Amino acid sequence: MKTSLDRGAASKPSSEQRSTMVRMTIDCTDYAPLGDVDWIEQTERGLLLGVGEEKVRVDVLFPDVLRLKISQAGSFDESPTFATCFEMPAPPPFEVRDTPDEVVVETARLRLHISKHPFAMAAHREDGSVIFEDDRDEEGNPRGYLQLNDAFVVTRRMAPGDSMYGLGEKTGAFDRRGRNFALWNTDILHPNVLRLNHLHEADHTLSGRSTEFDPYYTSIPLFYHCRTTDDAAMVAGFFVDNGYKGNFEFSADGYYRYAFAGGQYTEYVFAGPDLRGALRAYTFVTGRMAPPPIWALGHHQCRYHDYTDDEIFAIGKQYRERDIPCDVLWLDIGYMDGYRVFTWHPTRYPDAPRFIDALKESRFRLVTIVDPGVKVEPGYPVFDEGRAQNVLCKTESGNLYIGKVWPGRSAFPDFVKPEARTWWASLIARHVASGVAGIWIDMNEPATGDIEPFAMRFDRDGEDHPHERYHNQFALLMAKATSEGLAAAQPDHRTFVLSRAGFAGIQRYAAQWLGDNCSNWEHLQMSVPMALAMGISGQPFIGADIPGFVSTPSPELAARWVQCGALTPFCRYHNHWGEPDQYPWSFGPEVEEICRNAIQLRYRLLPYLYTAFFQASASGDPIARPLVYDFQQDRRARETEDAYLLGEALLVAPVCVSGRTERRVYLPEGTWVDWHTGERHTGGRFITAKAPLDRIPLFARGGYIIPTYASAPESTMGHTPELLVLHVFLPDEDGEFSSELHEDDGLTLAFSRGAYHRTAFRLTRRGAAASISAVVSGGGFAEFRRRALRLVFHGFRGKEITLDGRALRVEDGVVEFENRAENFTLELELDDAHRVAAKGGERKALREAL
Ligand code: GLC
Repeated sequence: MKTSLDRGAASKPSSEQRSTMVRMTIDCTDYAPLGDVDWIEQTERGLLLGVGEEKVRVDVLFPDVLRLKISQAGSFDESPTFATCFEMPAPPPFEVRDTPDEVVVETARLRLHISKHPFAMAAHREDGSVIFEDDRDEEGNPRGYLQLNDAFVVTRRMAPGDSMYGLGEKTGAFDRRGRNFALWNTDILHPNVLRLNHLHEADHTLSGRSTEFDPYYTSIPLFYHCRTTDDAAMVAGFFVDNGYKGNFEFSADGYYRYAFAGGQYTEYVFAGPDLRGALRAYTFVTGRMAPPPIWALGHHQCRYHDYTDDEIFAIGKQYRERDIPCDVLWLDIGYMDGYRVFTWHPTRYPDAPRFIDALKESRFRLVTIVDPGVKVEPGYPVFDEGRAQNVLCKTESGNLYIGKVWPGRSAFPDFVKPEARTWWASLIARHVASGVAGIWIDMNEPATGDIEPFAMRFDRDGEDHPHERYHNQFALLMAKATSEGLAAAQPDHRTFVLSRAGFAGIQRYAAQWLGDNCSNWEHLQMSVPMALAMGISGQPFIGADIPGFVSTPSPELAARWVQCGALTPFCRYHNHWGEPDQYPWSFGPEVEEICRNAIQLRYRLLPYLYTAFFQASASGDPIARPLVYDFQQDRRARETEDAYLLGEALLVAPVCVSGRTERRVYLPEGTWVDWHTGERHTGGRFITAKAPLDRIPLFARGGYIIPTYASAPESTMGHTPELLVLHVFLPDEDGEFSSELHEDDGLTLAFSRGAYHRTAFRLTRRGAAASISAVVSGGGFAEFRRRALRLVFHGFRGKEITLDGRALRVEDGVVEFENRAENFTLELELDDAHRVAAKGGERKALREAL
């Protein structure tokens, strides 16, 4: 089976379709409130309340993080999903005030008001600003929480200027306000998937190629409510820890609403008021990306095609001969024998270990796909083993569940069972023993072809559970088992898994790509806000297929796509079965040169990117971050969804429209230096950036230091340079700025035992005086070869600097000195042209003089 894609017309929805989407509201008819609060009990970390037939529990995790739970049939589900992974912190101080009408839980950062007659909730920060407020119906009755059987609906107030962010992998605008969404992991290109998944109320009028299609592959029930007043934009985050099908309605006036089809109400409330703080708290709860191996940050070459080993080898050779960096070659389903997972095609890959070894000689690694669908075929060892060990999903009657994937009739591991995960991990470990470096897991929504998924049941602790409970978590658990298999095979190595589907917490186990996109300008454009939304939904390691998966891009689109894709956290070429070649060199010499430059730029930036990955793994911060993340109080930054910061210090403004040779870019406050021309801009305004086909608008942030390699290596394998280049972007304004450089062996877990160098830079500017201090921590690592640093100054034209009290000559803004990860302090005197005090015309003239 090659594909069964609907090749019907793509494109944007008509206005009629759009209004259908907005009309798909949550119907609460017959839902009922809980009733009155009957009793209250203070607990070690909050409150327990009797409300009607149920109990409500408030847990204070931190002064600004609450967990709210409502029982079902009087008991609480303490592990509603596999999303969370935190150790419960010691309860922070809080106070409870009980009055006849309400009970208040107060921490240093917030107040939760619980009305008693009837039950309703509202939370405010210590300054009185709103975190959430239950909504009321026309008669004034609270409708914050309503239930019907096992389903529940939560409705809260929303003000006219508010924005909603998050929900992970969704099409459309970054600000979710004005649309409704469903959370149900979906193989979007399967033509019947909405019908097969009973998603009639979803956006069934549109094909999976639409820029408005919903639902998508990954479901992350995390959203942010941004309340905007004249003075401030304040963000609160909400994570609903529920794996059932969810619906979010952000299209109404005056309220927002969400509903889950089953499971308990468990909600984490992150008070903010910064998006950054809320995301960090969310990733405390659901975990953070483990630092990946450095090669995973390189360029990846993939294609859905039945290659032989020689053909793969030949592609690698092309990359080397054409001087286009590449770390990883990928094998799609054609490497298997009849699409049987954990097999190799006997004639295409007769000797996989030898083939992989030969690739390594050319400094390539290999990643293979592994789908969850196990061919139903007695005699096929994986199937026989799965059946014998009772680790495959069953139906309600106890029969084997059968779906349809690439090999035809397929069975599915029951990843909810620990034994199934152990079995799968052992299969992965055996598979990668041949030398495979990482695993790509796909079709894990799970995609079951033309067969409905609902008969697939799951077994938790010996109890049979309906499909709906774990559907959205199937990929999360598959990713967990897969990364455990990789870790078992290479115990001291970091793992790399790429997953199509996911749920909250997926970042702990896998990177993700945005699934099957199309080679058209709209899909390039939408990949930007989609990736940014994944970033603020806890998944920093994200990127889209370059230059679009389905159909053939024009040379111009191919060029624009790689320029953007090379500056996203995950950078992989991939294209669909039967399409013409779409390698960097397939579009003629001009595009090839553009691709080379784009990918070489990524490779030069690897020290910076690698550091950003380490920061993300420590803090939960995104790597590609929306401007609102760093400039929340700036309205135009909040509204920007076509540009982003890559790490803290680079602003990327991709060109996503055909024929454009310039574009408007919003630069937030601060100094911004055009990466290509060195032109300096004062932020807080729009500029028009030149963008001829060979240039993606890219700006470095004043005050920051961007570490780079002196030249792009062809691969990260064995690349341990003796020289690093630090680009120093001096700001026009006074201030103190922090940057970092993380160096380690790039592969093992030795960093977690202190085997790294971490350089903390502090750049300070006071008028004409600027200084840079570098403080190194960490115990170092055996592979470290650096002997020197070269500093390239942007915004300093002096001839001399002082390094640790010693004068050093600067030639054309460049200075080089020995450094093997030692601290240093550097001082420089900026000429008058940089004086902050310069005003108006004088300032403009001075800037021009630069
Ligand atoms: C799915 C994946 C795609 C892959 C194809 C064949 O469509 O999303 O990336 O190439 O399956 O495995």
